[in-house]
Amino acid sequence: MNDNNKFTNFLRLGVNIDHVATIRNARGGEHPDPLRAAHMAAKAGADGITAHLREDRRHMTDGDIERLMGEIELPLNLEMAATDEMLKIALNHLPHAACIVPEKREERTTEGGLDAAGGHNHLTPIVREMGEKGIRVSLFIEADPRQLDAAVSLGAPVIELHTGAYCDAVGRAREVELKRIREAAAYGAELGLEIHAGHGLGFDSVGPIAEIPQLAELNIGHFLIGEAIFGGLDSSIKRMRSLMDKARAEVSGERSA
Ligand code: PXP
Repeated sequence: MNDNNKFTNFLRLGVNIDHVATIRNARGGEHPDPLRAAHMAAKAGADGITAHLREDRRHMTDGDIERLMGEIELPLNLEMAATDEMLKIALNHLPHAACIVPEKREERTTEGGLDAAGGHNHLTPIVREMGEKGIRVSLFIEADPRQLDAAVSLGAPVIELHTGAYCDAVGRAREVELKRIREAAAYGAELGLEIHAGHGLGFDSVGPIAEIPQLAELNIGHFLIGEAIFGGLDSSIKRMRSLMDKARAEVSGERSA
């Protein structure tokens, strides 16, 4: 077996709790508290907590990040735009990881990947400064070899592949998107990158992504929080965790058979 086809030991689940804050902010009070969601996620089997501090603070606030850093035991993955303001905040808190995402004020969510290839000069000092302080830096990019090459030349140890187009596609188009992600994950592993993936994943779309052997982590938020309305957060996270484990177990069974 080629090294790049090896499974990483375990596929981590990072639970993105932004939309707990979205609901809280709709009324401006303190309920529901994202910190409580982070504690519940830890109990339900999350391996990390992900939170995006947006420029417009539409969901997570600076206070949320401070409380998450101070009060949770799971590693925090801070999603952030490549701005001086966010760099300062990241260097102040020193989260376990920081995922650099593109950010447009008018978008509803992170719609596309970062242009690591085009934004090279701007990104270089941000990646370097955070890396020097021990923050594990990842770049949220499309499954495009040019962007993976750029991640390597920027010195980012991790990339997160955008799964949004795959999740939105149906039928044959979904297969095409899946193939792109598979190929990018294999190429990224050849380049020595740690590979994560996320965006838009739900119970019906996570399996084929979890089967990709080079993936080390999935970051999932909106679906889990939405599903929690119907069955509770504990149950939605546990079900996602078990679908991820099942997908991996099936493929590793096939491989060793
Ligand atoms: N990964 C990144 C880099 C993101 O920006 C987001 C959305 O904040 C996610 C994963 C999670 O996406 P979703 O909320 O659609 O599961």
